[in-house]
Amino acid sequence: MPKQLLVRDVPDDIVGWIASEKTERRLSQNEVILDALVRACGKKNVTLPLQFPTNPPADTFLPPFSFIDLFAGIGGFRSALSKLNGNCVFSCEWDEHSQKTYKAWYGEKPVGDIKDVKLKDIPRHDILAAGFPCQPFSIAGVSKRQSLGMAHGFECATQGNLFFQLATIIAAKRPPVLFLENVKNLKSHDKGRTWEVIEKTLDDLDYWIFPQVIDAAGWVPQHRERVYIVCFDKKVAFRQKPNFVFPERPEGPRPRLADILEENPDPKYTLTPHLWSYLQKYAEGHRLKGNGFGFGLVDVEGVSRTLSARYYKDGSEILIPQGPNRPPRRLTPRECAKLMGFVDERHQNIVVSDTQAYRQFGNAVCPPVVEAVGREISKVLAAKLMENGCLLKKTGTEK
Ligand SMILES: C[S@@+](CC[C@H](N)C(=O)[O-])C[C@H]1O[C@@H](n2cnc3c(N)ncnc32)[C@H](O)[C@@H]1O
Repeated sequence: MPKQLLVRDVPDDIVGWIASEKTERRLSQNEVILDALVRACGKKNVTLPLQFPTNPPADTFLPPFSFIDLFAGIGGFRSALSKLNGNCVFSCEWDEHSQKTYKAWYGEKPVGDIKDVKLKDIPRHDILAAGFPCQPFSIAGVSKRQSLGMAHGFECATQGNLFFQLATIIAAKRPPVLFLENVKNLKSHDKGRTWEVIEKTLDDLDYWIFPQVIDAAGWVPQHRERVYIVCFDKKVAFRQKPNFVFPERPEGPRPRLADILEENPDPKYTLTPHLWSYLQKYAEGHRLKGNGFGFGLVDVEGVSRTLSARYYKDGSEILIPQGPNRPPRRLTPRECAKLMGFVDERHQNIVVSDTQAYRQFGNAVCPPVVEAVGREISKVLAAKLMENGCLLKKTGTEK
C-alpha cells in the first residue's frame, strides 16, 4: 500500500467536509480525496496509485508505517518494528558503544543526546517508540540513589526529566501512536507518584493509554517483566477509543534455555574456582542472615532470571551448570543476544567488547515481545485505514 494514504495536516473544517461528502455522495474517504485531487489539478482521467486492498484480512494485513526510535540502545524496537512493515525515519542514542552496535546492525548511527535534538530535525512519524531510561525508576537505581542521598524519579535532573523530553516531542509532532517501554516497577516507583505524573502527562497530551506488564518468558527463555505502554492520539486519528488488546503469550511449548546455549563456549566464560567459591560463601552468608541474595544456577530446561545490565560484573544472576567437577559458566554475549530475542543473523555480529555487549543486552527490550505488541498495534492501524482510508492529522500542532 502506498504512503499517499497517510494523509496528514488536515484542518478540522476539511475533515468535516470529507465526512459530509462521504455521507452525501455515498463514497469512501479515498474516493472523496481522490476526486478532490483530480478536480484540483484539472485533470479528468488521473488515478493516483491508491492500491488499498478492498478486503484485506484484518489479522494479517500489515499497513506500512514510519517510526522513530528514541533511547534506541541497540534497536530492540527497530529490529521488531521493521519486520512489521515499519520504516525507521529517525534514531537517537547517546552512548557511543550502543551507537557502534546500532550502526553495524542497521547501517545508521543514531544522533546523540536527545536534549540537543531540535524538533524540526525529527521527521513526522506514525509511531514514536521509546524505552526511556529506567535507572531512576528501577529498584536498584532508586535504592542506590536514596542511599547516596540523591534525588530520583522526576526530581532527578539528569535522567528523570528525559520523560519530559519525550512529552515535548509528542506535543510537537503528535504521532498517532506511542509505543513506550520501561521497568516493571515504574508503576509503583515513588509510591506510585512517578506513574501518576507519566499517566497524567500522556492524558493531558490527549492520548488513550494502554499499559500492561508483560513477561517475555512466553517468547524467550528468560523471565523479564516490563511495562509496555501503548497510546493512541485521541485528538484526531483515534477519537473513539481503539479496540487495542495486548497479546497473549504464544501457544505451544515454552522456550527453553537449552535451545539457545552454544555447544562449545569459550572456556573464558567459566568462572574461576576462586570466584565460584566466593559466590557460594557470599550466598551462604546472606542465607544465614535471612537475606535473599543467591546466585542463579539455572535449570537449562526452564527459563533464566532477568538479564541485567550488570551481568558483566560476575554473571552471578544467570549461571550455567557444567557438572559437579567444574565451576559453572556465564552466558556468552551471543547467547545473551538469543536470550533477549535478537536472533537475526546480523545480531550475531558483535562489534563491541564483552562488557559493553552484556550491558547493551541487559538494557534492551525483547524484540519478539515488541513484535507481538506491534502486531496488535498494526491491527488497530489496519482497522483505522479500512474505516477511513487514512490516518487524519490536524494542522497547526507540528513544529
Ligand atoms: C533502557 S535503554 C533502552 C534500550 C533500547 N530499548 C534497546 O532495545 O536497546 C535506555 C537508553 O537510553 C540512552 N540514553 C540515556 N540518556 C540519553 C540521552 N540524553 N540521549 C540519548 N540517549 C540517552 C541510554 O544510553 C540507553 O541506551
